[in-house]
Amino acid sequence: MKLIVGFLLYLIAFTSSYSYAASGKMQLDTVDIDLSDKASLQRGAKIFMNYCLSCHSAAYMRYNRMGKDLGLSDAQVEESLMFASDKVGDTMTVAMRPKDAKKWFGVVPPDLSVISRARGTDWLYTYLRGYYLDTQKILGTNNVVFKDVGMPHVLWQEQGYVRKDSNNQLHALAGDQTTVSEYNMMVRDLVNFLAYIGEPSKIQRLALGKWVLLYLALFFFVAYPLKKAFWEDVH
Ligand code: HEC
Repeated sequence: MKLIVGFLLYLIAFTSSYSYAASGKMQLDTVDIDLSDKASLQRGAKIFMNYCLSCHSAAYMRYNRMGKDLGLSDAQVEESLMFASDKVGDTMTVAMRPKDAKKWFGVVPPDLSVISRARGTDWLYTYLRGYYLDTQKILGTNNVVFKDVGMPHVLWQEQGYVRKDSNNQLHALAGDQTTVSEYNMMVRDLVNFLAYIGEPSKIQRLALGKWVLLYLALFFFVAYPLKKAFWEDVH
């Protein structure tokens, strides 16, 4: 009897804490990631270099490796994507010193090489679209999935001002629907790029996978008649 009561209590405690965790969680918007979409990855790279690399590094990534994966020549990479470095074989480091960053933002901006795997792409997509005006904050903004975030809304000129209502819904203040969907596409390209740098060899794996399947399919037509020939006399 004691055991059963204990078990029931345990069950209640477990399920209630579980539902608490679920309700405390913000609903994430889903984003479709497509690493074979080179144009999207190129646009994402451009946004990343322009808006993010001034504070965040991506130290596991080299410019020339990225160029090759995204279908760009070294010259193209140097001309349109390199602002923080001068050698195409360099990794994506950042000029800001950690000590200064700490002074300016209170926290050092983390390296973004594997952020897509740490946070997930849906989280990133929601986060970068989740800034809203908050007069209580020094930066003037807050974020729906990262409360009291120390990062300013660096893309505010692209998105415009956003207000949060009492139901936690976000509303663009002046933006028309085109601006909203353009901003969503821009963030999608950026998150696509972040997914790519988190796992750069995935592009090759996906490409290789097609050939492996084709090989297996063709091999079937060799293996099956062989099998038939071998077993002919056994039956
Ligand atoms: C002005 C400097 C600055 C720029 C530019 C900047 N960030 Fe940040 N970012 C920060 C700081 C500081 C933090 C740490 C915030 C905190 O922990 O409160 C941060 C945190 C983040 C995080 C959360 C990391 C975590 O803890 O999981 C992500 C994701 C991120 N930035 C992505 C971006 C992207 C993408 C861009 C380009 C669009 C960008 N950042 C541009 C300063 C910057």
